[in-house]
Amino acid sequence: MKILGIETSCDETAVAIVQAHIDPAQRILSNVVFSQIEQHKDYGGVVPELAARAHLEYLTPTLQQSLKVANLSLEDMDAIAVTAGPGLIGGVLVGLMTAKAIAMALDKPFLAINHLEGHALTPRLSHDVPFPYLLLLVSGGHCQFVEVKGLGDYHILGSTIDDAAGEAFDKVAQLMNLDYPGGPSLEKAARNGNPQRFNLPRPLKGRQGCDLSFSGLKTAARMAFQGLDFPTPQDINDVAACFQLAVVETLMNRAEHALQMLSAPVDHFVVAGGVAANQALRSQLSNLCQQRHLTFVAPPISLCTDNAAMIAWAGLERFSMGYKSDLDIGPRPRWPLSDISLF
Ligand code: KG4
Ligand code: ZN
Repeated sequence: MKILGIETSCDETAVAIVQAHIDPAQRILSNVVFSQIEQHKDYGGVVPELAARAHLEYLTPTLQQSLKVANLSLEDMDAIAVTAGPGLIGGVLVGLMTAKAIAMALDKPFLAINHLEGHALTPRLSHDVPFPYLLLLVSGGHCQFVEVKGLGDYHILGSTIDDAAGEAFDKVAQLMNLDYPGGPSLEKAARNGNPQRFNLPRPLKGRQGCDLSFSGLKTAARMAFQGLDFPTPQDINDVAACFQLAVVETLMNRAEHALQMLSAPVDHFVVAGGVAANQALRSQLSNLCQQRHLTFVAPPISLCTDNAAMIAWAGLERFSMGYKSDLDIGPRPRWPLSDISLF
């Protein structure tokens, strides 16, 4: 079984082909991502209208490239999967309409996929993680702990009450004039910084539940930075290191609470989403799992940030269970994981 996946919900135009295979290393036949970093970098963030236009321009060449890498044609696909939300409406529309057109013209089954479900199922694509598991989904737009009980069966244990962690990374990086996109640049700066120099808060630490909050921490990092008269590169590295440590320690505390909130014990703790690319976060989560005798799983970085292989894989899991979408389904700018049911 081969599934084509299309992802256009944010600033990556991506097309991938995955196949059902017992060996995870053989599953991805192509995974092409055209990143719009150049289009948005002057603005310090994603401009929705520019993103939609870029998706329109780049989707066809990205699709052609993906088929070429896999050495396959559209006729070889068993179904077409596409992100139908949540995300920026203009971009989602471009992908959704393209996928529908392909499915209609070639009379192929069509699968409308939730972007967050794509992230949530990625550890199954890369590592065959069995249900149930605890997921920390940390990206630019989302930050939540999810008890993944089965396909389409997601229980949100806690989520951010303000900013997502990735958004906070991006804003703090932008404030200090670090390169766009901010997350990876801030991590790089933090490597040479002193994480003890500034005393930044750990929001909601110790509080009941596993909700998260990053806007106060973002403000505290801004105050620390603006308190410096003429910030040197070392000052910037120090603010970055203190901010990153505060985010990681906050997430660790909330993760401990999330583990206590599960309805049934799990063997695996998985992390997904763009911020899961952060090495400091990965190593602390891995330590926590070691202490708790849990298996820690982090997908390869190319599958943590937005990509279409995760959408194709979610499509494959759903299609294998007999699921198909109607062609009249519309784009959904908001579509929480808790709102998905299998049929
Ligand atoms: O999942 P993703 O590619 O897009 C969304 O669905 O949001 O996540 C992008 C987010 C951005 O905020 C980016 O700065 C952050 O992930 N990110 C990182 C790192 N790499 C990407 N944050 C911290 N450290 C990183 N190494
Ligand atoms: Zn994402």
